[in-house]
Amino acid sequence: MLKDIKRILISEEQIQSRIDELANQISNDYSDDESLLLVSILRGAFIFTADLARKLKVKHAVDFIAVASYNKSTSSGEVRLISDLRQSIEGRHVLIVEDIVDSGTTLRYLANLFRERNPASVKSCVMVSKDIVNNKNSNHHVDYLGFVIPDVWVVGYGLDYNDDYRTLPYIAELKF
Ligand code: IMP
Ligand code: MG
Repeated sequence: MLKDIKRILISEEQIQSRIDELANQISNDYSDDESLLLVSILRGAFIFTADLARKLKVKHAVDFIAVASYNKSTSSGEVRLISDLRQSIEGRHVLIVEDIVDSGTTLRYLANLFRERNPASVKSCVMVSKDIVNNKNSNHHVDYLGFVIPDVWVVGYGLDYNDDYRTLPYIAELKF
């Protein structure tokens, strides 16, 4: 399996120390009585969510939402809701936790979906963003970002290629 890995872009140590920083930042920005709700985007964000959540020093709950998997061939970027949250987010401070932002379509879809449900706030925390995002006219916005990476297909740390490689502890470029 590792023969398919071209190069490691972000090591396990880099990931973990960046998550320490993000968790500190988030813990400073929210207070215990704000009933923070982490919304983890299945499936890619499950590992990031587990690490981030355990490093938060502020009271929070975790819920999950599943959206249809990415389809490279649809530049229209349609997102399909597979499984919704278990709980109401009305009055809650929502923090969307996502593995990667490419075009920004998924994040924008979810932010819009949640805003219709009258939460107290909606912010996002994303592990990696492809730097092509900066060149696209996609007015997306990430509040807490781990790393910017080149526009290559990456796997590991929750990210997959046809459901493989998700549990690698690092983020790596895939060899095609
Ligand atoms: P966006 O909607 O174009 O921002 O795409 C975001 C989704 O596409 C992510 O949630 C991932 O599931 C998937 N994705 C985009 N790029 C990659 C990649 O390099 N590796 C694995 N998944 C990716
Ligand atoms: Mg995803």
